[in-house]
Amino acid sequence: MATKRIAELPGTTDRRIDALLTLLAENATIVISGAKIAREIGVTRQQVWRWIETLRELGVRVKGHPRTGYHIERVPDILVPQMLSHRLYGTPFARRIYHFFKIDSTNSVAMHLGEAGDLHGTVVLAEEQTAGRGRAGRSWTSEKSAGIYCSVLLRPLIPPAHAPLLTLVAGLAARDAVAEELNSVPDIRWPNDLLVGKRKFAGILTEMHAEPDRVHYAVIGIGINVNQSKMPADLADTATSLRIETGKSHSRFELLIRLLRNLDRYYNQFLAEGAAPILRRFAQVSSYFKGKRVRITTATETFTGTTAGLEPSGVLRVSRDDGRGIAPVISGDVAEAS
Ligand code: BTN
Repeated sequence: MATKRIAELPGTTDRRIDALLTLLAENATIVISGAKIAREIGVTRQQVWRWIETLRELGVRVKGHPRTGYHIERVPDILVPQMLSHRLYGTPFARRIYHFFKIDSTNSVAMHLGEAGDLHGTVVLAEEQTAGRGRAGRSWTSEKSAGIYCSVLLRPLIPPAHAPLLTLVAGLAARDAVAEELNSVPDIRWPNDLLVGKRKFAGILTEMHAEPDRVHYAVIGIGINVNQSKMPADLADTATSLRIETGKSHSRFELLIRLLRNLDRYYNQFLAEGAAPILRRFAQVSSYFKGKRVRITTATETFTGTTAGLEPSGVLRVSRDDGRGIAPVISGDVAEAS
């Protein structure tokens, strides 16, 4: 199938702005002349000046002017593809990264790219989402440049029945990526909500296109609340951010590198060794694995019970309070019950 080229995707950040930002960031301590920048990225000096203005409007603090040259005052925490790609070298996520300053949903873009035949490992990033999607038809609040909004296109050679394991793989990768940023240990609420205390700071939406016996492509959409200084009033009791928890801001760029490197590691482990190490790791780091009192809401019913481990496919087992034995929970909302 033909692969859509980057230039055909409306709204992606111009690769030459990416190159300009990379050049300035990699030479943060020196002044580079407009002429040199123009030569290196292959545009006119006027164009360099216009893009510098665009970057300033986006909050990047660039000092100087066309005659003397430019330098960046502080390397901005923007998730630009070229710099990310260097740091992700050796993983499938280094090959194709699409960046948007504003988009409806990175998952929607990645699903289209999956349909268009784009590469395994393609990454879609946004600084802001206007229609970020969560699980069960909910929305995902995506404040500009405060969080990580990232979707990854995967083409795993697995049957759809194994797809819940991909969701666990992504949850473990996100959990490990943030663990060292927090003062306390993050928990995973099955299948992959990340919690600190009882409040959620990251969620994952897995979507896929499959036939009965094989997955064509899967999109793992990861949202992490990083530098939000407060959450919207209706979410304040249940949601939080790394900044709210630690009182300081965190580099989205470094966190994203760790997230994708961990995803690469767990995904390869899953392909090479199967579900067992993934399930073992989940048991180690999630208080929801076994013995947790929970209220389960599925499409058809709500019931309470106690978690009793995972099935080999990643499905949650819950011992029901109503005496009807162990219920396998394939999808549904899990809440802690008293
Ligand atoms: C959840 O409900 O917990 C899942 C939230 C998933 C949000 C992420 S943000 C990046 C990607 N794009 C989306 O529209 N959703 C996912």
